[in-house]
Amino acid sequence: MKYLTTPIYYPNDRPHIGTAYTTLVADAVARYFRLKGEETFSLTGVDEYGLKIQKAAEENGMEPQDWVDHIVGRFHEAWELLDMGFDGFIRTTEERHRATVRSLLQKMYDNGDVYLSRYEGPYCVRCEAYYIEDELVDGNCPVHMRPVDVHAEENWFFALSRYVDPLLAHIEANPGFITPVERRNEVVGFLEHGVDDISMSRSSLTWGIPLPWDESQVAYVWFDALINYVSAAGYADDPERFATQWPASAHLVGKDIIRFHAVYWPAMLMSAGLPLPERIAAHGWLLVGGTKMSKSNATQILPEELVETFGADGYRYHFLRDVSFGPDGNFSWEGMVDRYNADLANDFGNLASRVLNLCEKFRDGRVPAVSPADGPEEQPLRSAAVEAVAAMAEFEDFRSKQALEGIWLLFRASNAYLEMTAPWKVAKDPDQAERLDQILNACLEALRIGAILVSPVMPGAARRLWDKLGLPGEPDAPAFADRCVFGTFPETTVHKGDALFPRIEA
Ligand code: MSP
Repeated sequence: MKYLTTPIYYPNDRPHIGTAYTTLVADAVARYFRLKGEETFSLTGVDEYGLKIQKAAEENGMEPQDWVDHIVGRFHEAWELLDMGFDGFIRTTEERHRATVRSLLQKMYDNGDVYLSRYEGPYCVRCEAYYIEDELVDGNCPVHMRPVDVHAEENWFFALSRYVDPLLAHIEANPGFITPVERRNEVVGFLEHGVDDISMSRSSLTWGIPLPWDESQVAYVWFDALINYVSAAGYADDPERFATQWPASAHLVGKDIIRFHAVYWPAMLMSAGLPLPERIAAHGWLLVGGTKMSKSNATQILPEELVETFGADGYRYHFLRDVSFGPDGNFSWEGMVDRYNADLANDFGNLASRVLNLCEKFRDGRVPAVSPADGPEEQPLRSAAVEAVAAMAEFEDFRSKQALEGIWLLFRASNAYLEMTAPWKVAKDPDQAERLDQILNACLEALRIGAILVSPVMPGAARRLWDKLGLPGEPDAPAFADRCVFGTFPETTVHKGDALFPRIEA
């Protein structure tokens, strides 16, 4: 079973294109695994407790529960708008999560890893994290570059330092545990530098999950949030599913929350006696004008602003094609328009309209199921189909850019094939009727394979093309490798209809 997770987002605001990025990669990769035929569970959700949310509720004059109930709908709407097909959505205010958190924390307590102590230090509410003085940049939070508060409390502490050696050993023994390697090195460096125990509860806050052994304190929000991955796998409410679903195959996260996922979380799991996730994969930030997008510097872009122009498929294609998973990526409107016009309107969309147009014009939309020729002209097309199918494996490592580059070889080869074989000329010679059928059949077959291969990235466009091709069933049915062998396109009634990707004027 493949179990993929996104971070659970703070519902202090609506999702923007940065938060949508992790969600998008997770959705495309989960769709890829389903297309491959693997049983898959993809999870997203919201992180509803903690000081940050309590403050957001206060600012909006609402009780925290009413606030999160009100705002969670925006996440559902955004994910629906972007055609995300998640199997699970978790809210940390759900009972199944509360029960799981209390059970896991109790296990850590019973294991002797929890003790009472006093803590005083700089705290960034936006990060929901304590820092040490050394980590501050000019006295500011290193992530948000804004002033920190000083918090002092008597809290329960988790003996994180006990897990440094086991964690280093685990990272050493499992080179793919933290990716990419830069992040792995960062985590190893952090662990080797010496790690302090961490405060895992709050006495000054009520908006959280009470500790089972001390109801006067609530769990520190990260200690509750990380456990969502276990709650959503059925720990408290579906133990049978939990047995097949845990450990997760991969947690996808932004680089700013790597320490929580690659240090705190595995240590918590070790303490609670649960297996560790197989992989923690971190991506960079989406920058706008070279800086991290944020509400405070008015660079925040919402998915709906882009979907309006590019559609959900155009949106998904752009971010999966142009932002590599790992380094920071820069967003620009011009870049998005150029990419859309070049790859979607031209290479892919235009190919589909030309082929379907020729089929309508010369064969009334019904091309006989003649087996496509296998001559020198067809060779590049056939090899491109094989390469495109092989490129799908890039999704295993979240390399959607490379997967799409591989798929595009097929569309480029199809366009070249059209130019070379020039069916509009062949059609003029009645003696070449069978050659025309062969050429059109080969082009339709390439489109059929293309529709299947793009389905994880553009489920809507794949479906629309499938309908135009008059094919039965679904483009995203399982076992794509078998379904993508270049063969004979069946005799269906095809229709050109509207453009798949209408050109966008800059
Ligand atoms: N609630 C925590 C996560 C808990 S997971 C157990 C949290 N939430 S968040 O809403 O602030 O951020 C969620 C994710 O969005 C993080 O992975 C973060 O890296 C990502 N992004 C937020 N802004 C981003 C960009 N501008 N670009 C890319 N990802 C960004 O942290």
